[in-house]
Amino acid sequence: MYHQTIVKPNAEEVAIAATEWLIETIRESIAARGTCSIALSGGSTPKRLYQLIAENETKSVDWSCVTLIMGDERNVPHQHVDSNFRMVKEAWLDRLDPSQPQSIPQVLPVVIDVNAPERAAAEYEKTIRESLLKSSDDRDAEIPAIDIVLLGLGDDAHTASLFPETEALNESHHLFVANFVPKFSAYRLTLTAPMINAARNIAFLVCGPSKRPAVDVVMHGPRHPDEYPAQLIEPKLGRLWWFLDTAAATEVLK
Ligand code: 6PG
Repeated sequence: MYHQTIVKPNAEEVAIAATEWLIETIRESIAARGTCSIALSGGSTPKRLYQLIAENETKSVDWSCVTLIMGDERNVPHQHVDSNFRMVKEAWLDRLDPSQPQSIPQVLPVVIDVNAPERAAAEYEKTIRESLLKSSDDRDAEIPAIDIVLLGLGDDAHTASLFPETEALNESHHLFVANFVPKFSAYRLTLTAPMINAARNIAFLVCGPSKRPAVDVVMHGPRHPDEYPAQLIEPKLGRLWWFLDTAAATEVLK
């Protein structure tokens, strides 16, 4: 498996390095297939990356060839302060100039139904499958490949909304599911591990000292994915990057 770790002195430099990598990887995808799909993460470091795109990168690629998928979402309306879609809109999309169509990606928000998260997840699975198959070179694939998946890592080693000891960790068939998270007494909606692992490129963005134990156990084991869900992320054919700041990186990585 192709695996690269990039360590930067602080969160701002992680966001800058990840933005440069993202632009380069989008260019590669567009050159190869004419399109690029990106699954977005919630969280603080990705938020800075979205701001950097809106501030500096609107002309770096033809964004009209890019489709944004929500990698995970909270089971709340889009105007709610916890909504990942709201965060992406505020940090990035709302700041684009509508008179510049090449700066504007296509976005697929999860159509939330707070009382029926399973139904919302099933609908979103259809939406992403149709969108990816349109641009796919492998229309028969049971699990279509997203070009780029951005991920964060929780202190408890969750990623996307794959939390320790939750049902979604056992999912082997579906691409996107509603996942009940007992510690929040709430549903989250999330890409599944098989869907993430089918991606062409996966990048974790992780900053801050509270993340160091999770980084350590995810990278160096012991392997207990039920307890440390990010251990499930092992791309089948794709490439895996970790962007870390020095506070999150263990000694071996510095
Ligand atoms: C979310 C996420 C989640 C996040 C991690 C890390 O919706 O919250 O997608 O998986 O990436 O919790 O978040 P931070 O980068 O803010 O620590």
